[in-house]
Amino acid sequence: MANWETVEVTTDLLICGGGMAAAGAAVEAAYWAKKNGLKVTLVDKAAFTRSGAVAMGLSAINEYIGYSKGENTCEDYIRYVRQDLMGIARDDLVYNIARHVDSSVHLFEKWGLPIWTDENGKYVREGRWQIMINGESYKVIVAEAAKNAMAEAGFDIIERVFIVGPIMDGDRIAGAYGFSTREDKFYVFKAKAVCAMMGGAVHVFRPRSVGEGLGRSWYPPFNSGSTACFTILAGAEMTCQEIRFIPVRFKDAYGPVGAWFLLFKSRATSASGGEYMVTRKAELQNWAPYGLVKPIPANLRNYLGMLDVDAGLGPLYMETAEAINNIAAQYKDDEKAFKKKMKTLEAEAWEDFLDMTVSQAILWAANNIYPEKSRSEIAACEPYFIGSHSGGSGAWVSGPEDINTPYKWGYGNMTTVKGLFSAGDGTGASSHKFSSGSHAEGRYAGKQAIRFILDNNTQPNVSGVDELKAKCLKPLDVYAANSKFTTDPMINPNYILPMQFMFRLQKIMDEYAGGVVSAFKTSKALCERGLELMQMLKEDAEKLGAKDRYDLERCWENYHRMWQAEAHLRTILFREETRWPGYYFRADKPKMDDANWKVFVNCVYKNGAWEFCKRDVVPLID
Ligand code: FAD
Ligand code: ADX
Repeated sequence: MANWETVEVTTDLLICGGGMAAAGAAVEAAYWAKKNGLKVTLVDKAAFTRSGAVAMGLSAINEYIGYSKGENTCEDYIRYVRQDLMGIARDDLVYNIARHVDSSVHLFEKWGLPIWTDENGKYVREGRWQIMINGESYKVIVAEAAKNAMAEAGFDIIERVFIVGPIMDGDRIAGAYGFSTREDKFYVFKAKAVCAMMGGAVHVFRPRSVGEGLGRSWYPPFNSGSTACFTILAGAEMTCQEIRFIPVRFKDAYGPVGAWFLLFKSRATSASGGEYMVTRKAELQNWAPYGLVKPIPANLRNYLGMLDVDAGLGPLYMETAEAINNIAAQYKDDEKAFKKKMKTLEAEAWEDFLDMTVSQAILWAANNIYPEKSRSEIAACEPYFIGSHSGGSGAWVSGPEDINTPYKWGYGNMTTVKGLFSAGDGTGASSHKFSSGSHAEGRYAGKQAIRFILDNNTQPNVSGVDELKAKCLKPLDVYAANSKFTTDPMINPNYILPMQFMFRLQKIMDEYAGGVVSAFKTSKALCERGLELMQMLKEDAEKLGAKDRYDLERCWENYHRMWQAEAHLRTILFREETRWPGYYFRADKPKMDDANWKVFVNCVYKNGAWEFCKRDVVPLID
């Protein structure tokens, strides 16, 4: 076996991940732990300051209720989220995040995040729920506050350690194991409670960007399904595993569209200029009642555009020039004011991307695109798993203790596994939390985890460390034992390299589970065949080979993606309807079936087998 040092870390609360949810959990848990003589440890596979989906920065905060300012109510937010998910959302979780999210945003501002304000000092709204920020350093600011809170309490943040999986003591979480991505060190973490907050999953499906653009995606490629895999293998019940998110983005560099639709009030059109949201409006009747309410659910907005593409009317465009000129037209009687407004709008258009998706600004420059002069292509991306945005997949967690909800088993945001908590992209059926809601949910989960520890203040038993180490390092051993048998170590019948493994996984998902190549359509027969191929891939996962530490990380990332993929395929197969056209279409069950399927589909992986069940959707309010 590879000769790596074993490092043991014993703590009370282990926070796995260092993104928005984990930063929230750290701030809150550090406070409550210090007060109660407990210890918190945070582990991130990257550098905390610039890790996760907010690494590059953001240009908006997408969830800000503004209830203390009388702008919106939390009840309105529940209705908005439920509607956007075609009726399938946990009101209790959405409400809990909504009532805490404004305080996270106020903290961000206190910590130094510049939020746009108007002449009256009011936050500038992008849309009803979103506010604009100068957010290039958003993650740096939020991470710094968490670092300070942890340092003041005397707690450790361990960076560049990749979490591979959970350690269990019977039905209770006992910790996690992983390895350093910089040194030859295997890590065992022993903890009384664990927060799994390692983000969503990208590159489970084949991306549009292949070859020269390989690796480019809208959501970060380094979020590889670790939370889903961790919770599944710990035995937690999972929900909404069929709800992937397909965003429409500026084509090829994946620039977000929110500012264009909401702030600039832009139209999206097909090549001949038809506005699909208008020309295809009648289609929305087929998805009533959800299709008939404003805002129209994100998947249905996608779907109308996809119908144009299927009919050969593509490419689709964002009418950027028209939108900018429409706004500036208000100043047309004053040439100086008009020119000034045009300059401001141009700057805002570029800053939107320079704050959050730099590659889109580079692509515009490379393609001679002046947003104020020409329109710009948009397209539906490959699917992502992201419970914090407009998807819904994640762990099934307990509702808040003070709310009358049927989904409650003790501690808020605890999964069905004792002591295992999650938030952000890790929790399901509570979409539209985004960066701010993930932070607020993380804070809540961190506090609840400390509560759990105080009630269950014993160190669970950790056994089998040598076996875990052997399992973790096995890809290095497989490669070392076999790589000399062929003249080119890239080609070897005794192992599969992580890149080849990822391509195989992505091909299965793309072609059988409704990816880009299959125009987001699948069926029972396609899912079943996909699962046969997945089974063979799973067998080959035992033969993953890693030539070095870097490759070892890639092996485990793809292993994590594989579990997310399997949960997804199986859940699409179980739900015999099409509920989210625009995300995926079950071609053999092309209609929504509220009578039988207005339910959550949940699954659990137990004793080597998957179990599925339906759970009722119980609204908290009308
Ligand atoms: P993340 O913040 O992604 O954090 C995941 C963390 O887990 C990272 O620290 C990562 O390093 C770590 N990790 C992953 N795997 C492992 C492992 N195996 N071991 C240890 N650590 C691991 N939201 C808004 O509010 N407004 C916007 O305008 C907006 N725009 C966006 C634009 C883009 C381009 C993107 C990508 C996202 C955007 N979002 C926006 C969404 C927002 O970023 C997410 O909702 C939020 O970051 C989710 O938080 P999280 O903590 O679940 O995951
Ligand atoms: S981002 O997270 O990458 O910035 P995006 O640009 O799609 O995502 O959306 C930002 C916010 O605007 C989200 O709250 C999203 O739901 C909302 N949004 C985007 N497009 C529309 C639209 N056409 N109608 C209503 N809301 C929209």
